[in-house]
Amino acid sequence: MRLIKKLSGILTVFSIFTSLSACTANPINNSYSVKEIKIGVTLYKQDDAFISTITKNIEDIAKEKESNSKYKITIDVVDAKGSSSNQSNQVDKFVSQNYDIICVNLVDRTAASMIIDKAKLANIPIVFFNREPVEEDMQRWNKLYYVGAQAEQSGEMQANIIVNAYKKDISSIDKNGDGKIQYVMIEGEPGHQDSSIRTEYCIKTITQNGIELEKLADDTANWQSAQASTKMTQWIKEFGDKIEVVFSNNDDMALGAINAINNANIIGNKPLVVGIDGIPKALEAVKNGSMIGTIINDSKAQAKAIFDISYTLATHGNMNSIEGLEKGKYIRTSHTEVTSDNVDLYLENK
Ligand code: GAL
Ligand code: CA
Repeated sequence: MRLIKKLSGILTVFSIFTSLSACTANPINNSYSVKEIKIGVTLYKQDDAFISTITKNIEDIAKEKESNSKYKITIDVVDAKGSSSNQSNQVDKFVSQNYDIICVNLVDRTAASMIIDKAKLANIPIVFFNREPVEEDMQRWNKLYYVGAQAEQSGEMQANIIVNAYKKDISSIDKNGDGKIQYVMIEGEPGHQDSSIRTEYCIKTITQNGIELEKLADDTANWQSAQASTKMTQWIKEFGDKIEVVFSNNDDMALGAINAINNANIIGNKPLVVGIDGIPKALEAVKNGSMIGTIINDSKAQAKAIFDISYTLATHGNMNSIEGLEKGKYIRTSHTEVTSDNVDLYLENK
């Protein structure tokens, strides 16, 4: 009996000691003192080529920051697969798990209000990106941000590439010598700010430069390469070698058009194709001459802006330190023109 009492006494002392040591510093990883920042990211579609580039950049920037920060940074990326109801459920989940910030690449940019109301109720700021909510929604709360690009500029620069080529050597573009450029326009999703603005500013800039245009066709291919390839195949059947220029609202669709051009039997010069985004495959196409140029949509700068806003809010930092923040909530990055003249520079850093 006495032996049992003694043994249980020893055990009690031992367990007090072990539980005490669990409360104090863990010498291996010091985990007790590390605060975690949780950033939830919901994407309209993860397989979109440009969106996947932004996402990868956000993850890389977060990893780098974590290595010299006192915070553990968790970036949780989820795919809404083109469904607003999926996206709404994903936001619910981020809210219920007390995420610090929610980054939203809206499925439907005209329907942000439900998501905003949920985040506002839970006091979790939102950083929208790439798919801009309407102004009225952006006014709903003072903890809403938007990161995107200067869409007008991308349309103007796309036009510049064609204007410069035309001025340098008219015959390289105006194959039938009628003094006009016969073109087709492949547009992104209807209702997306980058689609309509790029189309408008591209056409406007060409005509402002005194070059006459003749539209053969235009249609949407929803940012997707396969849809653009199908569209372009139809247009080649319809217009044959009349098509002199293919304007595409993004690179992935431009690559789809190139695919259709390569599979068709076009007599004489192939049409010139120009895209936007500067994704790696497009830079390679510019390098090998199948694309006359592209415009870099700065996914690195956008990822940095998305991350900087998120991190600063989560750590209660000074928002004035964030570069390029306009009206306290918008960041719009600028673009770069890429042709065979300077593509090597960007192929090296892609
Ligand atoms: C655009 C980009 C497209 C597509 C779209 C998705 O800015 O140029 O390639 O990613 O965003 O919202
Ligand atoms: Ca012509």
